[in-house]
Amino acid sequence: MTAPFRLFLSFLFVLDLGSTLAEAETGQAGWLRYARLDGATVQRMQRDVPRSIATFESAAPVQKAREELVSGLRGLADLDLKLTDQLPPDGAIVAGTLTRLRQASAGLLPTGTLPPDGFWLKTSTVNGARFLVIAGESERAVLYGTFALLRKVATGDSVAAIDEKDAPYAPIRWVNEWNNIDGSIERGYGGRSIFWEGGHIREDLGRVNEYGRLLASIGINGISINNVNANPRVLSPEFVPEVARVADVLRPWGVRVALAIDFGSPQSLGKLPTYDPLDPSVIAWWKARVDDLYKAIPDFGGCVLKADSEGRVGPSTYGRTHADAANVVARALAPHGGVIFYRGFVYDHHMDWNNPKNDRARAAYDNFHPLDGQFDANAIVQIKHGPIDFQVREPASPLFGALERTNQAIELQITQEYMGQARHSVFLPPMWKETLDFDMHVGPGGSSPVKALVAGKTFRRPLGGFVGVSNVGLNPNWYGNHLSQANLYGFGRLAWNPDLTSARIIDEWTRLTFGSDPGVVRTVTAIQLASWRTYENYTGPLGLQNLTDIVGNHYGVAVEASERNGWGQWHRADDKGVGMDRTVATGTGYIGQYAPAVAKSYESVATCPDDLLLFMHHVPYTHRLHSGKTVIQYLYDSHYEGAAAVEQFLHDWDSLNGRVDAERFDEIRTQLDYQVGQSIVWRDAVTRWFHRASSVADAKNRVDHYPGRLEAESATLNGYVVKDVTPWETASGDKAVECSAPSCIATFRFAGGAGRYDVTIRYFDVNTGAARFRVRVGDRTLAEWTAADRVPSRRLDGSSSSRHVVREVSLAPGDTILVEGTPDGAETAALDYVEIQPHVDRRH
Ligand code: GCU
Repeated sequence: MTAPFRLFLSFLFVLDLGSTLAEAETGQAGWLRYARLDGATVQRMQRDVPRSIATFESAAPVQKAREELVSGLRGLADLDLKLTDQLPPDGAIVAGTLTRLRQASAGLLPTGTLPPDGFWLKTSTVNGARFLVIAGESERAVLYGTFALLRKVATGDSVAAIDEKDAPYAPIRWVNEWNNIDGSIERGYGGRSIFWEGGHIREDLGRVNEYGRLLASIGINGISINNVNANPRVLSPEFVPEVARVADVLRPWGVRVALAIDFGSPQSLGKLPTYDPLDPSVIAWWKARVDDLYKAIPDFGGCVLKADSEGRVGPSTYGRTHADAANVVARALAPHGGVIFYRGFVYDHHMDWNNPKNDRARAAYDNFHPLDGQFDANAIVQIKHGPIDFQVREPASPLFGALERTNQAIELQITQEYMGQARHSVFLPPMWKETLDFDMHVGPGGSSPVKALVAGKTFRRPLGGFVGVSNVGLNPNWYGNHLSQANLYGFGRLAWNPDLTSARIIDEWTRLTFGSDPGVVRTVTAIQLASWRTYENYTGPLGLQNLTDIVGNHYGVAVEASERNGWGQWHRADDKGVGMDRTVATGTGYIGQYAPAVAKSYESVATCPDDLLLFMHHVPYTHRLHSGKTVIQYLYDSHYEGAAAVEQFLHDWDSLNGRVDAERFDEIRTQLDYQVGQSIVWRDAVTRWFHRASSVADAKNRVDHYPGRLEAESATLNGYVVKDVTPWETASGDKAVECSAPSCIATFRFAGGAGRYDVTIRYFDVNTGAARFRVRVGDRTLAEWTAADRVPSRRLDGSSSSRHVVREVSLAPGDTILVEGTPDGAETAALDYVEIQPHVDRRH
């Protein structure tokens, strides 16, 4: 295909995207739907936006900007723009690089410069004609300006008179995709890879093109397209042309492609006897492979390296340092302008749990602080935002404050690994901002928020910034949850400008994604802004971390999964107290890794923030928080509050019926309804676990008292057999019933008064079959369903615990409720309980 023809086709493609996706509303267009604005705004835009668009550059990003303006303004404001490469006498939108625009007409812009990747949006009048100028410092910055202008139009801002310069806070604004070359994704929840399939780059890169567009719209300028647990084959010569195809698709969007590499590659792939980074043959091998890549991909971005971590090989094999390892690759990349991201996520996962001085949280600082100053200028240490691993709440990694002569970048996780895996809605920018705004109290002047440190501002580093682990997939909505897209949007917006508030980001995203109906904006933004605290409340509050199955799927509740193993995500809860003692005085000394001003506040329970108390201290259950509440009562209350808040999210969402397109309305409703069910499993499991551990009663008497709940193990069982569930806290009464016959029946006797009830059937939906359930009262069939959800568990546990609610059922005293289960494959139609609660009509 010739280049112009390809351009023409992609032009048609973009036009098509704007119109068809707006109707289908699958979520695929993300926040770039360009749905028609309301009548009055359309009229205003038609008045204020010039009718043609002038560009003077054939560079692909400038052409993409032009296509975007055409499709965007047509979709949003019904404008048909004429295309021209001259300045029309009657005015135009003019888009191009600052240098080229100045050549085109001296009068378009006053003097002034732009920082790297900055843009300038300016209305100006030349010879009586109105021009709307989009000037970029670079070609890709023209795209950034274009998307900023379209965002203004889409959110109804006036474009009648603008004069705005904007530029990114940091040079590094990257995403990582943990994609395996077989097409699976490590910690991806939105389907299979958009890049890889069956050991190769996919034939059809249509979704990569769409992704590039989304990334460009939020200012992302680099992407690593394979798993950090890298397959050495990605560097083999036969892959180079395949990776080059991806680079060709993303280049027009200003996104540079990079690869995650395996440090043992010189040996495993290159067949050298060693991968010692100081060995001349190894040095030559890295250089040859990198030179080869640059022949095919002249703007190749660089490499990401995870070494000596979680079983990956690294420089320790030869007694070399992380700096040696980073530099051997950095030196191969440097002549071409490439960079290496060396991951700071290095720790020992075989630590002795019995040693109270051991602490995984110390690892990043202990490993990298001594090497400060030894990394080459094009090496960047990529540091997870907290010292452990993307937990629901962590303090800022102390390593941010400990590298003065080394480039650094913060690694944030967009994909919701520990955050409900896109089955729960959790909007992460409020969490990220807590870290980005956190003052590490280092550097000149003694004040240094993490954002300034990672951007290289504090210690005047040449490189630095933001890396988001994104892991989009082929699911039309990219993440498997419409609301999760806001995390990618938020990541990009914060990487561009970390001073933006979460409220501003979510307001923008909501308007762009669902339109500007005030009720929709109010409801969606409120849910999103409350969602992180809510998730924390029903999972692991007070700095406990997630309390999930950390040795398994990282999804369902398993309070003790973190204990008595070498992985180091310990909370050390026992019958007397809970929390990790990380103090300098009596604990692991972790707190001493912070600057004195920070360490001082964490070291004492009197000043340590409640939200991080159990991360920093081991305290008795009866310890009083700053609020006056005891730790144990807080654990109980927060879980009940969290679960109640999710239920409220669902009701609030229901109020939007008819105001959001049906497809997304239904899908989000299903997601929130599921989240309500899961939040109850979490609530009950964590509160019961701590109740049993502490022997302290819940002041409100909720824990271990469940009105209307009838345990399956106490029902009249026909074929069903009682089974202990592990971990015990994930099943009500610690037990479930399983069916190994062709079908089984559990009969529950209703002992309440006559009335209308909601009947919840709590069952287990594992991923090894699709069992069927039928619920009857006498000869009335209330519900039938198939347990075919794809949850990440083959066992009866918190991940597979599911619920079916039958609403407004008339029941009379003595009625019997029969649940009939028909197993399928290895799925045993297991039941936990039936709960019968008076129906409350929430519509009044
Ligand atoms: C987490 C995650 C792994 C991943 C690792 C990393 O531990 O569970 O799948 O490989 O982080 O960031 O390298």
